[in-house]
Amino acid sequence: MKTILIAGGNSGIGLQAARDLLGHGNRLVLLGRDQRKGEAALASFGAAADRASFLAADLSTHDGVRDTASRVLAQHDRIDALVHTTGVFTFEESRTADGLHLFFAVNYLSRYHLTQLLLPALRLAERPVVLMMTAAIPPTDEMDFARFPEFAPFSLSRDRKPIQLANHHYAAHLTHTAPGLAAGVVNAGSAKTDIMRIAPWYMRAGMKVLGPLALDSVETSARNVVEAVRHDDWGGAPVYWGKPGRFDQRTSITLDATTTQHLMDASRKLTGA
Ligand SMILES: NC(=O)c1ccc[n+]([C@@H]2O[C@H](COP(=O)([O-])OP(=O)(O)OC[C@H]3O[C@@H](n4cnc5c(N)ncnc54)[C@H](OP(=O)(O)O)[C@@H]3O)[C@@H](O)[C@H]2O)c1
Repeated sequence: MKTILIAGGNSGIGLQAARDLLGHGNRLVLLGRDQRKGEAALASFGAAADRASFLAADLSTHDGVRDTASRVLAQHDRIDALVHTTGVFTFEESRTADGLHLFFAVNYLSRYHLTQLLLPALRLAERPVVLMMTAAIPPTDEMDFARFPEFAPFSLSRDRKPIQLANHHYAAHLTHTAPGLAAGVVNAGSAKTDIMRIAPWYMRAGMKVLGPLALDSVETSARNVVEAVRHDDWGGAPVYWGKPGRFDQRTSITLDATTTQHLMDASRKLTGA
C-alpha cells in the first residue's frame, strides 16, 4: 500500500485525486488550512476513511511549512508520493509573515520547501513521485525571472507565469538531483472549485455562467495526477502534462540549467532548505 500526501487534498482537484487514489487501495494524508473541510473530506470517503487522515496546515509561511513537515515525519517514515494542489488566486498585494507575496508563497515556494523537508521520507520509497499542479504553463525559457522572488509590487497578470514556471524548474532540479525520484507538473485545466473564493466578483460570476459549458470536470482535472502516481512508465526526465485527462499526452521539461540553478539557490536562501 502506497502512502500519498496531498497538500491541498481537503478541497477541489486535490480532494478528487485523493478519492480516486483511495479507490485504488492507497493510504492518503491530506493537508489543508480548513479543519472543517478536512473533516468533511474524511467523512465523504465512507469505509475507506480508515486509510485516510487530515492535518490542518498553513503552508503560506516558512514556520507553517516547517511545523507541517515535522508533524508529517513524526507520523510517517516513508512517503511514496507527494502531490501539491495547494493554490490561491488573488490580485491583491497580500504579503505573508515572511514578506513574500501569498501567490508566490503558496503556489510555488511552499511546494519547494515542504518537498525538501520531506525528501528523507520520499527517499525510502521504491520509486518516489512529486507532482505539482499549476495552470496551463508549457515549459519555456522565454520567461523573465528578474522580479523573482519579491514580485513587488505584485501583478497577477505579469507575475503568475514566472511563479508557476518555477514549479517546472523545481521538477527539473529534483529529477537531476534525487536519483530515482520522478517529478512532474500537471495543468489543472479549468474546473469549478473553491479556487476563485478571493477572486473579484465578476470572475466568480463568469465561472458560474461558463461552468456547465466550458469547464473541465473535477474528475478530468484530477486524472493526470492519479495516473502519474499509479504508473511508473515515466520519470527518467521531468514531465509536464498539458491536457487535463490525457495522461498519454506529456512532454519532457527541458529548461535552461543556469536559470534552474538561480531559482533553486534563491529558494534555498529563503527557506534554508
Ligand atoms: N480550478 C481551476 O480552474 C484551476 C485553474 C488553474 C490552476 N488551478 C490550480 O489547481 C490547484 C488545485 O486548485 P483547486 O481548483 O482544487 O482549488 P481549491 O479547491 O481552492 O483547492 C486549493 C487548495 O489549496 C489549499 N490552500 C490554499 N492556501 C493554503 C495555505 N496557506 N496553506 C495550506 N493549504 C492552502 C486549500 O485549503 P483550504 O481549502 O483549507 O483553504 C485547498 O485545499 C491549485 O494549485 C490551483 O492554483 C486550478
